[in-house]
Amino acid sequence: MKEAPAPPFHERLLAWWESNGRKDLPWQHPRTPYRVWISEIMLQQTQVATVIPYFDRWMQTFPAISSLATAPLDDVLSLWSGLGYYARARNLHRAAERCIEDFEGELPISSEALCTLPGIGLSTANAIVSLSTDQPAAVLDGNVRRTLARHAAIEGWTGKTAVQKRLWKEAEDRLPTQRGADYTQAIMDLGALVCTNTSPSCDQCPVSVDCQALQQDQVEHFPIPKPPTRVTDRTICMLVLRDAENRVLLEKRPPSGIWGGLWSLPEGASIEHIEARLGVTTSNLKALPQVEHRLSHMRMLIQPTIATVDSATGVKCSAEQNWFAPADQSKLGLPKPVSDLLEKVSSGEYT
Ligand code: ADE
Repeated sequence: MKEAPAPPFHERLLAWWESNGRKDLPWQHPRTPYRVWISEIMLQQTQVATVIPYFDRWMQTFPAISSLATAPLDDVLSLWSGLGYYARARNLHRAAERCIEDFEGELPISSEALCTLPGIGLSTANAIVSLSTDQPAAVLDGNVRRTLARHAAIEGWTGKTAVQKRLWKEAEDRLPTQRGADYTQAIMDLGALVCTNTSPSCDQCPVSVDCQALQQDQVEHFPIPKPPTRVTDRTICMLVLRDAENRVLLEKRPPSGIWGGLWSLPEGASIEHIEARLGVTTSNLKALPQVEHRLSHMRMLIQPTIATVDSATGVKCSAEQNWFAPADQSKLGLPKPVSDLLEKVSSGEYT
């Protein structure tokens, strides 16, 4: 006798999620559009365990879109400090301002309108709509992409346009007609908990019977990885310049580019270049240990030098350049390698 066909994908997935899914994440209680939006942006490049304390602090500081929109960008970046990819924080701030200007102070609840806001792509828009309104809408974050690439055995790097198109179709074809919020959470959870990048637990998977990759015994072949990009090295010098009151000279970086809008140490090709640009003279120069900072396309090798300022006629104390005492430094949005370095300096590790 022929075996009965398996129930639809979404039924098996939802049944699995009932007993195995994540239901106690902070952004699920309550699951408002604003809270879902912030969590989805934080979770874009960051693990759940890392995000939770940042999310809680964020909600205490910016409990509503209006408090985010009216906060100084520096406060937003400072709260974000350590999560990385700061464009996400700048986009959140700008998008909150747009909600005030164009959407009567609320987050719009249609994918089309959400996609017009900075930092929100179709997958994030659909996650916000489905999780906060319960309407089904297809999501395609990294975990879902991997899961679908395996379930449908999709060849080709998932970043390619043709492959993306196919993945969206697979995602849409599997949607239920109801329970959009649970379904979105369930497919994300399946990717995060079962269909993991390495050592997936196919024996625990509710949709393994029709998984094309598993049938071909090729689960780890999918998804096809990105062809390697060359990582280039960039060496830069940074100057930790201290005055008689132990304050350090910091500069605000231009709004775009790496660490855009954050405060950082003066940098340049050499210490002499930095001194000449700043219009300062120094003494007691001491080279500090090199710091390595990895970005996706670049390895930054930071060579810090600590020095005492003798004269600073070129320094203009302004919104772009100023002296900061250790207690004030911690209130600024600083790149992670710079805040780590300044912490070591102020704890006396280098003296
Ligand atoms: N990653 C992206 N969105 C998520 C969510 N809602 N829950 C857990 N992990 C996620």
